[in-house]
Amino acid sequence: MNQHFRAVSLNHASRLLNHGPTVLVTSLSGGRRNVMAAAWSMPVEFTPPRIAIVIDKSTYTRELVAASGVFGVCVPGAALAEVTFAVGTESGRDIDKFEKHAIRTLAAPVLGVPVLTDGCSAWLECRLIPEPHTEEAYDTCFAEVVNASADARVFAEGRWSIRDDNRALHTIHHLGNGIFTRAGEILDARA
Ligand SMILES: Cc1cc2nc3c(=O)[nH]c(=O)nc-3n(C[C@H](O)[C@H](O)[C@H](O)COP(=O)(O)O)c2cc1C
Repeated sequence: MNQHFRAVSLNHASRLLNHGPTVLVTSLSGGRRNVMAAAWSMPVEFTPPRIAIVIDKSTYTRELVAASGVFGVCVPGAALAEVTFAVGTESGRDIDKFEKHAIRTLAAPVLGVPVLTDGCSAWLECRLIPEPHTEEAYDTCFAEVVNASADARVFAEGRWSIRDDNRALHTIHHLGNGIFTRAGEILDARA
């Protein structure tokens, strides 16, 4: 349990993904669990908050999400860049990635999906929106966010706070081939 996490009101949930961080998709079905990296996710609706996320049909994650109808989206901080790349380059069909990388999780309160708090800045609990045609034709999945939480040291009152003293929690953004950039500079356009 990470004592810094606080509930995020659902009308602010879209802001957790609005700037395009690479995320970790967590899944659970029966006794099976898994985690993978996803660079492609985005908010698509405000109320209720809904997201689109690409989960390739060939992944073990997709199999578990299709079976359970739920998943978690965790926003890794910069300190988790190597783990994020690793869980995006190996399959949970072959290994338990949580054990291999010593990833600790807790069961999120609404849907029970495993979520990471150590090294993550936020997590969202998501319920898959059944879309048979889309699911058959595309790798894109739509989901409703039913609960969200964030580390108050980096996201509070509906706003990211990117500072030098919370660098380990800055979001990461995949440039390709295991190279990430870190969200680290604020440009205030209001002036
Ligand atoms: C940085 C990064 C970002 C990725 N983004 C996506 C993505 O948006 N969608 C996707 O389907 N796969 C993405 N992948 C690939 C999956 O994470 C990869 O196929 C993974 O091995 C699937 O794991 P699983 O079979 O255990 O579910 C990404 C991989 C990396 C390293």
